[in-house]
Formats: sequence, structure tokens, C-alpha cells
Amino acid sequence: MLSAVGPPVTVRVPAKINLHLAVGDLREDGYHDLVTVFQALSIADEVTVTRAVRDAIEPGVSVSGADGVDVSEVPADTTNLAWRAVEALARRVDREPDVRVGLHKAIPVAGGMAGGSADAAGALLAAASLWRVEMGREGLMEIAAEVGSDVAFALHGGTALGTGRGERLVPVLSRHTFHWVVAVADHGLSTPTVFGELDRLRARPEAPRRVGDVEPVLEALASGEARSLALLLGNDLQAAAVSLDPGLRRTLRGGVDAGALAGVVSGSGPTCVFLCDGQDAAVRVAAELAGAGVCRTVRVAHGPVPGARVVDGDGGS
Ligand code: C5P
Repeated sequence: MLSAVGPPVTVRVPAKINLHLAVGDLREDGYHDLVTVFQALSIADEVTVTRAVRDAIEPGVSVSGADGVDVSEVPADTTNLAWRAVEALARRVDREPDVRVGLHKAIPVAGGMAGGSADAAGALLAAASLWRVEMGREGLMEIAAEVGSDVAFALHGGTALGTGRGERLVPVLSRHTFHWVVAVADHGLSTPTVFGELDRLRARPEAPRRVGDVEPVLEALASGEARSLALLLGNDLQAAAVSLDPGLRRTLRGGVDAGALAGVVSGSGPTCVFLCDGQDAAVRVAAELAGAGVCRTVRVAHGPVPGARVVDGDGGS
């Protein structure tokens, strides 16, 4: 059954980076236990959910890209994680997923910034608002965690400590705003492939060193000092991403040579993020890095920012 037309709901949902990512051993269910510190950045996708209308608006997914964002690899069909999120919510409230999901992407695709998870979180919140589902943030977080490991954080936003698959979250006190330069590669990396490469590297005698404890990272965030945080950025997946894509070494060196305090691969990569000593420094680093020819595009961003939120439409009649 298709519902009557109503105003669409648009949600803005941020990209994430991992300031600290400690990866445990492979579990029996194919996942790895993580201890991670997420931060939501000011690069956001927009997700618009519209009621399907017979002969006018088909249920399904459409995708468009902001300037310079290649969306050719994003599935514009029901295999998209955003659609699976809408279906999960529809099942929970016992209704048809009778909506069209429009994704307008600014987050790099397959870049280690959880763009697909962000779209799923955005679709979940937008559909809940459109359908006037009363389950609160907690109920949505539960569905989000089932849909994908990073979906819950995209709803949550800010800065958070993630454990389990990354879906169990505790907010982290983060004083001040941190300024980042984001170096986007001209290709993506598949998350399962990068985790698999880490397992492979760890099985060798010269296994990569693991990141340290998370506590000093939490202290640096509480102090708000970028220079302290810079010394502590760490990602166990970085060795695996660099092994699959050795050119990332040049990107990481390029950011530091351009004046960043430190750089790290974001999540499973290949996007690299560089912490800078203030906004002016970030703009300078971005300009220099853009000229260095070590990545496709360069963006300036800050964090933390809030998680998914409705920016247009309220799910009215
Ligand atoms: O949960 P999500 O679908 O985002 O995870 C994608 C893939 O990344 C998983 O199938 C798994 O191979 C890998 N992964 C993992 N450990 C995690 C999160 C993801 O091995 N904690």
C-alpha cells in the first residue's frame, strides 16, 4: 500500500574519523573486537526520504554527488546500506518501506570515513521522522547497530569511545574544536579486504606494532590540546592499508611536510587525515598538500560536530 504525499524529510549526517583504532584478533563471527575513538567531522551527506506515490515516485534509492565526489560505485538500488536501514525500521514497526531515499554525497566513497554507514543512519532517522515513529534515540541506535558497525556512531556524532564491533558507544569529553585536513585518494579500499590484510600481516613473524592504550588519547581530548593529541593518533589498520596501497606513505609524508602536526589513515583508508594547529594552519596545509600531487582532492574540516539531524521537513501529514 502506498501512502499519501507528504513533505520529504532531509537529514544531514557527518563523516567519521578514528583518532585511535585498536583492532583485536579475528572473532568467530568474522568481525574484530575494536577499541576506537571516533570523531564526527564537518563533511556531511544529505539524505532525503520521500513517500512513494503510485505512478510518480517509485520506492528505491537515488544517488548524487557533491562537487568532486565520484558516486559511480555507490549502488543506486536496494543493496544500498541506506535501504537496508529503512527496511530494518519498516520491519520493526510492521509497515512497508514505501519510500524513496535520495543520497547526496559529500563524504568520500569507500574512503574509510563511514560514508555508507552515514547514509544508513541518515535514512533511518529520516524514515523514523517521516513515519512519526516514537522509539527515541535509543531505539534507533539499536537498529543502527544491527545494520552496520559504524551506523550507530553516525547517529551519535561528537566524539565517542567505541567497543565491540565499534557499535557500543560512550561519549567522550572533547574540549575545543580540532582542525583537520582530509586527503582523498582517487580510488577506494574495501573494508573487509583491509581487515583481512591486517590478519595476514599479523600472521607473519614481523607483525606490525599495535597502537598503545586509549587512555592518553582520552586525556588529550579532554585537555583540548592539538599538539598532545597529534602525538597519540594511531590506527592498527594503517599498516594494512599501506600494504595494499603503498602510495599512502607519500600522502602521509606529504601532509606532515606541508606543516600538519601529524597524519593518520582514516579507518580502513585510503583517506588520510592530518591534524593541524588551528584553522589558519589547516588552510595553509591544505593548499600546500593540494599542490603536492599525493592525493586526488583535499578538504578542510573540523570536529567534533553533532550526529545525524533533521534539517528539513518534520514528517508532517
Ligand atoms: O559492520 P560492517 O558491515 O560495516 O563491516 C564491514 C566488514 O568490515 C565486515 O564484514 C568485516 O569484514 C569488517 N569488520 C571487522 N571488524 C569490525 C568491523 C568491520 O572485521 N569490528
